[in-house]
Amino acid sequence: MANFARMIGIFDSGYGGLTILGELRRRLPQYDYLYLGDNARAPYGSRSFDIVYRYTLQAVEQLFSLGCPLVILACNTASAKALRTIQQRDLPRLDPERRVLGIIRPSAEAIAADQTIGHVGILATQGTVDSLSYELEISKLRPSVRIAQQACPMWVPLVENAEADSAGADFFVRQYIDRLCASAPDLDAVLLGCTHYPLLLPKIKAALPAGIRTILQGPIVAESLADYLVRHPEMEQRLGRGASVSYLTTENAERFQQTAQLFVGEAITASTCAIIGGNR
Ligand code: DGL
Repeated sequence: MANFARMIGIFDSGYGGLTILGELRRRLPQYDYLYLGDNARAPYGSRSFDIVYRYTLQAVEQLFSLGCPLVILACNTASAKALRTIQQRDLPRLDPERRVLGIIRPSAEAIAADQTIGHVGILATQGTVDSLSYELEISKLRPSVRIAQQACPMWVPLVENAEADSAGADFFVRQYIDRLCASAPDLDAVLLGCTHYPLLLPKIKAALPAGIRTILQGPIVAESLADYLVRHPEMEQRLGRGASVSYLTTENAERFQQTAQLFVGEAITASTCAIIGGNR
């Protein structure tokens, strides 16, 4: 397998993390990125805490073994259910010099810092909603923000099956947006709290009542990583600057290439990668 040392590892259960990768490449084009999608085991959103933790840890170990000094969990479900344990319990054992970062904290910080937001809706997977991670993180930073959550379990399968633009997707997008707005009629903004959801953005915007803003995580995560690398020059110096991107999937590579190029907007080449301990 190719040499991926010095690359920033980007992990998601499937295609969703490509929406984060795109923004990272726009904001920080100089670095090398290694994307890993666990498409064979997606979706994660309906899986138990234990399974999401185990799969995510295996993916992190895989990206470490390929040489990545820094891994971003570009997946809310994995960030909600696995990040803290990996950071606190596994990293000291695996390699204390490497880092694993998530995407919930930066998103919560951006919401808390925006004083125009008094009531925010969080659209996310069932796993992220049940974890209460957004409620906990946002209320720590600005307790006065009101938070309404809505799980959208049909959205990831629509995206993973390349049905995001289909007429059938309209029905399920409207269904969850209507539920959220019925439970919280005075929202200022909604966060797309799952990295797959930007693929449904036009339909989400069309279903939302006028005046409710949509918040996308990609630009927030990219800005947060840029800031992290300024504050951590010891990590920044370990990163390659070849402006390259490589793609790995646990599913069939050709299938990944076909669907991923819809998200990336250009033809890509991917390789299939078996995850270490992936049959456990
Ligand atoms: N993209 C992931 C997230 O941000 C979850 C998708 C899945 O359910 O696998 O939560």
